[in-house]
Amino acid sequence: MDYAATGQEALSRIAEASDLETLEALRVEFLGKQGSISGLLKTLGKLDPEERKVEGPKIHALRESVSDALAARKDVLETAALNARLASETIDLSLPAPEAPRGTVHPISQVMDEIAEIFADLGFSVATGPEIEDDWHNFTALNMPESHPARAMHDTFYFPDRDAQNREMLLRTHTSPVQMRTMLKDGAPLRIIAPGRVYRSDSDATHTPMFHQVEGLVIDKDVHLGHLKWTLETFLKAFFEREDIVLRLRPSYFPFTEPSVEADIGFTLIDGKRVIGGDPSKGEGGWMEVLGSGMVNRRVIEFAGLDPNEWQGFAFGIGIDRLAMLKYGMDDLRAFFDGDVRWLSHYGFSALDVPTLSGGVGTPA
Ligand code: DAH
Repeated sequence: MDYAATGQEALSRIAEASDLETLEALRVEFLGKQGSISGLLKTLGKLDPEERKVEGPKIHALRESVSDALAARKDVLETAALNARLASETIDLSLPAPEAPRGTVHPISQVMDEIAEIFADLGFSVATGPEIEDDWHNFTALNMPESHPARAMHDTFYFPDRDAQNREMLLRTHTSPVQMRTMLKDGAPLRIIAPGRVYRSDSDATHTPMFHQVEGLVIDKDVHLGHLKWTLETFLKAFFEREDIVLRLRPSYFPFTEPSVEADIGFTLIDGKRVIGGDPSKGEGGWMEVLGSGMVNRRVIEFAGLDPNEWQGFAFGIGIDRLAMLKYGMDDLRAFFDGDVRWLSHYGFSALDVPTLSGGVGTPA
């Protein structure tokens, strides 16, 4: 049999195939399992040996020429397809970056960075501790034994299971346990702040179950209340970027400090709005409570394995959310945690707006 006509027809149809799908259809038609040339190959088995010797090479040659033609055509079509894609997908790298989407730094993150920057300048480093705490670090070691009434005021979220040392586990109710962790780890002297999330089972317009605090701790020799007052005043002046910050210290009680002090910051009324700064005792305005502090209780120093006759110190705890609201004029705490893109793009900060003391710690984006 002469396969020249079959071959001619196959080759010319392959040469005319204008895209890869058509070419693939031809491959199946000729060489697929049910293909015409595959069919010819199958007939070989039924031929007697002499005929097979004659027909075999012809059919194989046909198969080979068709398969070569398919491969060659495939190459041509693929190159053409690639060139077309390259031509249509050019990128102009000199175009400006798109306006949207544009993320912002959350005011809480920004304020935490501002606080870290200010305290770094005063020689404080940043310490951290776990949000899932044990009862010993969160309460007992801070001079709040199991029966202590102050525990009840913390509205603690407890976990159902205890840890390996049979300690009750909880979400830390304040950043104060970082005091203990840092003293146990690094000993004394010490100068740290510890910003982070804290949790209490409490929720209304001015309380959210998760909020933010920054803890401060200084342990050294001959530390006294005057150092505490100077540090707080210096911090608040730098944070609010004004010199006329007036601080009022009130006696208070915290189990982990003795004596304990709560600090209020003076505000004045300008067009009915509260503005931080000025002395309320000399005009309109008032006091706003911003932090708790005091001299570290001797018992706490003992719990940390230090000798309270050798080491003293002061500590403070500041509510970050409140501070951010006062500085940047936000009046609803809950908006902090809504994740509303419009709110974030209004109150958020540019990622490039890194707070520095020289450049101003808080210039809105
Ligand atoms: N831990 C206290 C709270 O969450 C705040 C506090 C008060 C922290 C006095 C201190 C401190 O370090 O000395 O209410």
